[in-house]
Amino acid sequence: MNTSPTSLAGRPADPVAAVTHADPYPFYAELRAGPPLAWNETLRLWVTSRAEVVESLLLAHGALRVRPAAEPVPRAIVGSAAGEVFGHLVRMNDGTAHQAHRPVLQRALAGLDLGAVRAAALRVAHGVPVQPLSDALFSMPVRAVAHLLGFGDEALPRVDRWMRDFVACLSPLSTAEQLQGASAAAGELMARFEALAAGAAPRDGTLLSAVLAEGEASAPLPRSLLANLVGLLSQTCDATAGLLGNSLIAVMREPSLPQAAQTQGGLQAIVEETARHDPSVHNTRRFVAETVTIADTPLAAGDTVLLVLAAANRDPALNPEPERFSLVRARRRMLGFGHGVHACPGQALACTLAAAGLEAVLHRRPDLAALRERGWHYRPSVAARIPVFH
Ligand code: HEM
Repeated sequence: MNTSPTSLAGRPADPVAAVTHADPYPFYAELRAGPPLAWNETLRLWVTSRAEVVESLLLAHGALRVRPAAEPVPRAIVGSAAGEVFGHLVRMNDGTAHQAHRPVLQRALAGLDLGAVRAAALRVAHGVPVQPLSDALFSMPVRAVAHLLGFGDEALPRVDRWMRDFVACLSPLSTAEQLQGASAAAGELMARFEALAAGAAPRDGTLLSAVLAEGEASAPLPRSLLANLVGLLSQTCDATAGLLGNSLIAVMREPSLPQAAQTQGGLQAIVEETARHDPSVHNTRRFVAETVTIADTPLAAGDTVLLVLAAANRDPALNPEPERFSLVRARRRMLGFGHGVHACPGQALACTLAAAGLEAVLHRRPDLAALRERGWHYRPSVAARIPVFH
């Protein structure tokens, strides 16, 4: 059964349900036409979808935080190995804990040679079983980043498995069993990273060698930094799987793309336009720590704001003809990788990995017409749009 036609799906119930809806974009356009910050009584949070307001909120990082003050680590994982990792992540901290490791990670990622990354990612992706395709979407980028961190080929499938288990703790939809698995996986990952960092000098060009070259170097790496190396894998996992999967859907939908996908430049452009047009991370949240007024709307301490990045990506204020999928945008602008102090430092890497993954998938000549006919749905999630092909 093809569940992809938008006409069968009805209107999303709210901006969180929109993430996994067949076509949330008309709904996002309605949100943008409404107030700059709209209170949603069902979700009990403010919702914002216009690019300008999203940017203002992401720049107000003193008053708005990435975690609620009363719950820096989700209650369900406090005291567990998963809780320890989560508590150290730069993504989940503001202030000192954010600044302690963000610059090191940013420099290590910025120093990657993307040509070499592409070659390595392609080699790793060719080694991933393509069936089930929906699993390959995760394994290709996660194994590539594990390789870039410094793991040997033999370790990649295990690291991949643990990472899939670990990211389960990042979703509020996880079951008790998944949370337990996430903690076991976090413990394993920390131990493997510790051993890797303490072992023989890592291969040149790896993220680990870049981090070790930073100074804290020779001594055993602090657990907070080890946790952030695990964090590079978890930040890759769902988001890049979604970008790869949504890029494949774009190739099925847009008649000119199979031809464009024949070249490296074409693959890269498909992925970058998908990251704008049908991104994998649809929203992020901010938690108001002190009273602040944004877009003439007073926000009170304790309030939550949902920033609909995928709606902002199609704001005409950001790009001309935003509904059109175009490989040749002169200056493509998007907010799907965030903005301001927490902006994603892995954007270029993510696009390179997704393009290599797409190349590896298409190299196996899947029957795209049949795949499209069978259809897909999206994994249950409150923020990430990741297809599951039928
Ligand atoms: C398509 C793939 C990706 C997407 C859409 C994505 C998106 C994002 C977004 C939206 C944020 C900011 C969240 C916020 O401010 O609330 C973020 C942060 C982050 N991303 Fe990515 N990301 C992707 C891949 C990656 C990869 C491959 C890496 C590194 C290996 C990475 C590393 C990070 C880190 C470390 C942060 C936290 C930055 C900070 O808080 O200072 N991401 N990402």
